[in-house]
Amino acid sequence: MTATASKKTYSVQLIIGSQWGDEGKGKIVDLLGKDVDIVARYQGGPNAGHTVKFNNTQYILHQIPSGILRPDTDCIIGNGLVINPESLMNEIDTLTKAGIDALKRLYISLNAHLILDYHIAVECAGGSGESTASTIGTTGRGIGPAYADKISRIGIRMQDLLYPEQLKEKLNRNIKLKNDILQSVYGADKVDEQKIYDLLSRFTAIVKNNIVDTQSMLIEALKSGKKVLLEGAQGTHLDIDFGTYPYVTSSNTTVGGVFTGLGIAPNQIDRIIGIVKAYTTRVGKGPFPSELTGDTGDALRKKGSEFGATTGRPRRCGWFDSMVVRYAVETNGIDTMAITKLDVLDIFDEIKICTGYQYKGKKLSYFPKDFNVFDNIEPIYQSVKGWKQSIAHVRSYEELPVETKDYLKLLEDTVQVPVGFISVGPNREETIILS
Ligand code: IMP
Repeated sequence: MTATASKKTYSVQLIIGSQWGDEGKGKIVDLLGKDVDIVARYQGGPNAGHTVKFNNTQYILHQIPSGILRPDTDCIIGNGLVINPESLMNEIDTLTKAGIDALKRLYISLNAHLILDYHIAVECAGGSGESTASTIGTTGRGIGPAYADKISRIGIRMQDLLYPEQLKEKLNRNIKLKNDILQSVYGADKVDEQKIYDLLSRFTAIVKNNIVDTQSMLIEALKSGKKVLLEGAQGTHLDIDFGTYPYVTSSNTTVGGVFTGLGIAPNQIDRIIGIVKAYTTRVGKGPFPSELTGDTGDALRKKGSEFGATTGRPRRCGWFDSMVVRYAVETNGIDTMAITKLDVLDIFDEIKICTGYQYKGKKLSYFPKDFNVFDNIEPIYQSVKGWKQSIAHVRSYEELPVETKDYLKLLEDTVQVPVGFISVGPNREETIILS
């Protein structure tokens, strides 16, 4: 184990998912959030579900960065996000009930886009046979249609809320267009225009003082020496450009999304932490070479409580795939791995790692870009002996069973990046910090 030794402090750290999302980013953001001034999210929307557990309470955040759970941390929702007003108000409300005044420390970009009823209606139109919700297996949260409007330059942005007359005009145009599509293309119900106005006026009343130029805010914060944590949502392989298209989300979940989604420069980031689940999961459809469909997959799902934090769907489960994670390392420049949910592997006699893929008799050196290749690849596995004991109480690397150390060593050797953090349970304190 080559722990990344240092007492170095970092000004700007990036937390990025290395697999297909649900790697446990929320917990690591919460952990590092205690030493930073600002946590900023740069892409996605309410499709994400970041779970953090402390003091016997579980918090699931969808749009507000997990840093909000630290009392002195400011949180930014960057321009790269698509925001559902109803769901954001619910999140603010839930936090208020838990004694957390989110509005005091939450800053929402003027340029972030809104997800409205018509986005959700379009995504789900066509029913279980034809809608993108069913063919791609999306979360049904209107993410794709909202990003499509952004790219088509007809999106409604947070800043529009501050100009009611202009908002009305833009909304009127969009609702007409979307209702036409809903009715004539899909034979679906129209969305209710008044309901959208009412929702937006309630939303504006609550957040109007929180809508700011978050890019300038971040630039000023960095100039004055503040520490910033950048929080990604979803994972590398769900990236619109670098993921397993079309079974991806509609944003850049990889490192490029930081620059377009927040407006800071590449040379500002001084540590990139890849969040890596100790095995692999995926929700929704799409390639998954190391998937386990039998008893072992079921056991992983049960022990790891692998059900979506946003939709409750059972997650597909499989062994750790180093091809998947190495690709994330290369795409994002990951320099430290945070291994999560290692304790889930406590129950197995033997644990496997996929170390490569065989395709038509040859070993592939890269994660395939040609989608059709996935149909014919064979994962190559290496096994280690399981440790068959609980590691949830362990707080230092030295105390880990020798078999656990062997597993971590194989993981480091195949991915070729050092481990900096190991999570052995869902609670804040169930963490081993090596760097
Ligand atoms: P969308 O982001 O709702 O458009 O869904 C596109 C794909 O990304 C689907 O396979 C979803 O299951 C997946 N997805 C979206 N958000 C998350 C997430 O936060 N974790 C895991 N998978 C996600």
